[in-house]
Amino acid sequence: MTTLTVTQNFGKGAKDIGVYKELGGYASIGQKLFDLSQFELIDLVTRSGLRGRGGAGFPTGMKWSFVPRNSPKPVYLVVNADEGEPGTFKDHVLMLEDPHRLIEGMILCGWALGVRTAYIYVRGEFLAAIETLNAALKQAYDAGYLGQNIQGSGYSLDIYVHRGAGAYICGEETALINSLEGFKGQPRLKPPFPAVSGAWASPTCVNNVETLMALPWIMANGPEAYMALGTPKSGGTKVFSVSGDVIRPGVYEIPMGTPLMELLESDKYCQGVIGTLKGVIPGGSSSPVLTAEEAARANMDYESLASLKTMLGSGAVVAFNTTRSAVGMLASLTRFYAHESCGQCTPCREGTGYADRILKTVVAGKGRDGDLDNMLSLAANFSYTTICPLAIADAWPIENFIGKFRSEFDEAVERNPEHGASRVTPAFRPGAFW
Ligand SMILES: Cc1cc2nc3c(=O)[nH]c(=O)nc-3n(C[C@H](O)[C@H](O)[C@H](O)COP(=O)(O)O)c2cc1C
Ligand code: SF4
Repeated sequence: MTTLTVTQNFGKGAKDIGVYKELGGYASIGQKLFDLSQFELIDLVTRSGLRGRGGAGFPTGMKWSFVPRNSPKPVYLVVNADEGEPGTFKDHVLMLEDPHRLIEGMILCGWALGVRTAYIYVRGEFLAAIETLNAALKQAYDAGYLGQNIQGSGYSLDIYVHRGAGAYICGEETALINSLEGFKGQPRLKPPFPAVSGAWASPTCVNNVETLMALPWIMANGPEAYMALGTPKSGGTKVFSVSGDVIRPGVYEIPMGTPLMELLESDKYCQGVIGTLKGVIPGGSSSPVLTAEEAARANMDYESLASLKTMLGSGAVVAFNTTRSAVGMLASLTRFYAHESCGQCTPCREGTGYADRILKTVVAGKGRDGDLDNMLSLAANFSYTTICPLAIADAWPIENFIGKFRSEFDEAVERNPEHGASRVTPAFRPGAFW
């Protein structure tokens, strides 16, 4: 039987603190925890092999070790519950089903880093999750797990829920911090990294919902047991949001290293692909797409997906069958990224919009020779030249959809009755699109 470390309380009514405690909740918040030094707890998390589940996969223990000890400034913990990446919906469900597990994870992180004030930055549209979290926080305060002198330990922690305003870019940790502080949600240049200078120029740990929710299980069962659930280099389990052409889309927790096709086809999970599989986006909209042949070789862990030149990302799997147009899929992604660019870097602001406008003309049957190569050239030029990775998150789908499904894109260009009439794309004529 698969060991679950994050979703084991789903469907059991654990949003009520009584039920959560009956199921073993808050067991880690006691003398055993408060006897551990900050160093010992960070070391324990490091040994578990836990890596950030928000997208970048950065080792959690290492990130925590960057937060200065004995800082004269307050240390903040900010939970990233913005979840705006297309295809990703696991954190929303995690918060709705088991909010106390998140609170317990936050107390553990809080103790490790000396945090007195923590925030949960929740995507604005998640109204039910916000209500669920606020109700759970009240229960946790009433039961002495939050507030002053938690369980008689002398440690105090306050948690506030902060509602975002619905911009995808506010999921990027420094934009999130700007937004939390009341400024425009635009990413900051790094360094300094938030661990050193984040919210209100104080040391700030930003962690994803799922990352923190893995901590109570690790405390209860030990870091080695967690590590052993996955592969030698990708410890533990991972929660995936699966959507697209599968019989039973949903949120599934599986051991790291599980074959992608097992996730899509097993009766326990998605129960099979509808039609003939054409490709899979394995880790959220910015992760490079896999062809069906590549998907058959993929295991769901950091190393296997990296060997296929893609990534685990936020764990959003989108499977699509042969009835889907690669051109149409890429068009919705380029529209999304052009819309969500925050606009402060010229390559991203102009490049993502330009690429989107070119593809729109192709979809409209007005494509020209050179359009696809122009898009590829644009993507190469707006990659790695910007403050944050949003531009790259647009470049990767462009490069991989066009690269792997080129004949479909060529056919789309050839649908233009005037195809071949001009070698000059109208996108290069000033004023053509404005
Ligand atoms: C454009 C963009 C959007 C992001 N959106 C999210 C998000 O919605 N949730 C999240 O946890 N991380 C998101 N991230 C990653 C965060 O910047 C950060 O790496 C993460 O919250 C750290 O937590 P972790 O180490 O627990 O993964 C995003 C990054 C970028 C560049
Ligand atoms: S890359 Fe794009 S989204 Fe990121 S800071 Fe620059 S303009 Fe904003």
